Parts: sequence; C-alpha cells; structure tokens
Amino acid sequence: MLERPATEVRFPEGFVWGAATAAYQIEGAARDDGRGPSIWDSFSRTPGKVHAGHTGDVACDHYHRYRDDVALMADLGLHAYRFSVAWPRIQPDGSGPVNPRGLDFYDRLVDELCGRGIDPIVTLYHWDLPQTLEDRGGWASRETAERFADYATAVYARLGDRVTTWTTLNEPWCSAYLGYGNGVHAPGRQDPAATFAAVHHLLLAHGLGARALRAAGATTVGITLNPAAVFPADPASAADEQAVRLVDGLHNRIFFDPLLRGRYPADVLDHVARFTDLAYLRDGDEKIIGGPVDLLGINYYAPTYVAARPGAVGGGGAYPGTEGVEFLPPVGPLTDMGWMIEPGGLTALLERVSHDYPGVPMIVTENGAAFEDKFNRDDPDADGRVPDADRVSYLDGHLRAAHEAISRGVDLRGYLVWSLLDNFEWAEGYRKRFGIIYVDYLTQRRVPKDSARWYQEVIRRNGL
Ligand code: FCB
Repeated sequence: MLERPATEVRFPEGFVWGAATAAYQIEGAARDDGRGPSIWDSFSRTPGKVHAGHTGDVACDHYHRYRDDVALMADLGLHAYRFSVAWPRIQPDGSGPVNPRGLDFYDRLVDELCGRGIDPIVTLYHWDLPQTLEDRGGWASRETAERFADYATAVYARLGDRVTTWTTLNEPWCSAYLGYGNGVHAPGRQDPAATFAAVHHLLLAHGLGARALRAAGATTVGITLNPAAVFPADPASAADEQAVRLVDGLHNRIFFDPLLRGRYPADVLDHVARFTDLAYLRDGDEKIIGGPVDLLGINYYAPTYVAARPGAVGGGGAYPGTEGVEFLPPVGPLTDMGWMIEPGGLTALLERVSHDYPGVPMIVTENGAAFEDKFNRDDPDADGRVPDADRVSYLDGHLRAAHEAISRGVDLRGYLVWSLLDNFEWAEGYRKRFGIIYVDYLTQRRVPKDSARWYQEVIRRNGL
C-alpha cells in the first residue's frame, strides 16, 4: 500500500516557536555565588528518592555554559526560550535580603537572549523551594505564598525592563500532589491534608505574585498548568464517567475554576473536606487567585485513562482523593517514561479548556518525549549525529494536534518543546533524555539530535 504523504500544515503568522528548561534540571552550580539549598537538593540526597542517587549539583552546567547554549538556541532559530529562576539563588533562605549575585546570572542570561533576538519567558517557580521555607511548613503553610510575592517582586525589579512574559508557577498539581501527596517528588511528604493546603497556598502564591508583578508594571502574567486529558476506560460505563469527573475535579477544575472563574468548584471542596477542615481557605483568597490571567501555559505529555474500582487505592499514579479510582496501565506505543503517545489528547485538552474557560490565550509551555538516545563519543566513525526518529514522530504528531485545535478555534499562541537539553528528570535522574539536544554528561558536550534539525526547519517554514 502506498503511504500518503503527510499533509502540509501552516501555523498562524506570529506563532511563537521555542523551547523550555527549568533551573534545577540544567543549571548545576548548586553552591555558586551564594545559592542556598532547595528541597530538591535535600530530596536528591535522600537515599532511594532519585534514580541512582543523581542530583542537580552539576546537571548540564548551564550556569557556566549559558552563552554557548543560547548560541545553540539562536542556531535553531528559536523565537522564545522559557527558563525558570531558582528562588534559592535570589533569596538563599527564601525570605529577606536578595542576593545580587544570584540575580546577576539571570541578568546576563536575559541580555544574552535579547542580544540574539530570543524572547525570554520567565517561570518564577519550577519546584525548587528554598529548604528554609520547607522547614517552616513549605507549601502547606500560608507564609510561603506571602514570601513568593516578595521574591517575585525582587526578580521583576531586576529583569522587568527586558522580560515581558511572566509565569508564576509551573505545574502546581505536581508540587502539591507529588510533593505532599504521594511523596515521589520533593519534599517527599505523604499527607493528604497538607496536599490540599499546598494546592491552595500555591494558588494563593500565584494570585499574590501576579498582583505584585502587575503593581510593578508587568503586562503579561500567567501560570503553567499540566491539566489531565482524562478519559473513561469504558465510555459506556456511568461509573467510569464518575471516576473521570472526580479526577477532572482534583487535577483540573481545582486549579482552573478558582483561577479563571474566581471560585473553587463545590463538588471538589466537598470531596476535599474528607481530608481537611479547609481552615486554610480564607475570605478574599478566591478574589486574589481569580485575578486576570493574560496567558495560560499548558503542558501536555500523555492522556490518562481511569475506571471506577471501589476499594482500589490506585496504582503508581494514585494521589490523595483518588481512592476508588483505578489508573489504567498505559498501552503502547510508549515513550521511555512509559507514557502513552496520544496526540489527540492534546487537541481534546486545548479544546476543552478553551470551551470551558473562554477568552484566555494559551501557549503550550511543554510537550516532548524521552527516548533512549545513543551517542558514542569514542567511536571515531561517529558523524556527530544522534538519530531520534521516535522523537521527531512524537513532535510531528503533537504539532499537528495543536494545529488541529487552532483550526477548531482555539486561541493558541505558541509552542515550546520540552526540552532544549537532556537534563535532570527529577526522580528519574539523568537516565531519561527529553532534549532535542543531546548532553554527554561526562564531557558536557552538546550534540543537536536529528529532532533539533527537524525543529529548526519547522520553525523556518512556520509549519510542517
Ligand atoms: C513536567 C515538568 C518538567 C519535565 C517534564 C518531563 O512535568 O514540568 O520539568 O520534568 O515534565
């Protein structure tokens, strides 16, 4: 049978093409220039928490190699680069006086990006909470939200003249449910009541932080969520549909509703009240959380399938509130993370958000895949290539899915691939490679994979 050539797609004029990273995953230099310890420094040092005891101490050494990395970005033709600022570099103890040397690094990075015509997109919090704040209760404590606003103000004061796009938090679902719920991420707590307090204080941090940024003059302020594209195991089963509704509530509506409708959904609050007295929710909080969102960041990797299973405490993916829900094992083809490859999930998710929470422009702030890439530094015949056809196919499929959403009316402004570089993949350490650029950790050599060359061409053509 003849294969039909893939149809051409063109993205709207002005569509933003870029790549994303996060501080702890790439910077290294964990003790340089006055940086304080974060919860990920402590967690990665706790035996058994991170694959093979890997830490972010050195990572991709981006802190020292940022100039070369920005040159690689320029070579790819990126319009934008999303990176995060490490709070413990700016305030080593999470509060009090700022550490100017920490800000200097981001100042240099932003100058380098602007000098190359690459738009910096700043995420203020990508999971590296100063350890001192965790010692005082972390996200389970209201104080952390208040400190976040001070920190946001300090970063804006230094970078606000050049950075126009600000994201408060990355994936608060992960911070709360993985950090305080099932404990697979830092700080590794397993406490349902603390989990829901963390959800609220993260949202409050967003609200207070966004207010502070706006008061200081910021015009484009948003947040990045990782909503679940959740489907029933059996679409004909009313019980499975109920399980979908529950997971949608705990994963999606608990964030979207207060952010974009100014109110927590009543059914979710009822459910959460099984674990906590909700004393953390104070009058006026929802108003703060529900301030304007100029740009909504969406991270998508894989869909979730659930079934009602009374009595189930869930599989590996389970977290507080999902008792009685079974998360189905993924069905191939899978990435190296064991995640399903289903581009249609992205289209469905973008359409759903745009339908239920209209009027907010979106950007895909992360999408990508880990595969077992091979590069043999000792092979004299190696031509410096890293073939990664699987990743190209994953990205091609998801870009088509994003395009489909646009053609159905979704206001999607851009796409940032995860990730620019192979990096520290949290609990998986360095064994999972998400980069379009290979990092040889022994030598810190960067080798653009075939997907990087392919992406360069996508950007050049503004399409596929
Ligand atoms: C997201 C994180 C990002 C990266 C990807 C694979 O949840 O935001 O840091 O780890 O997953």
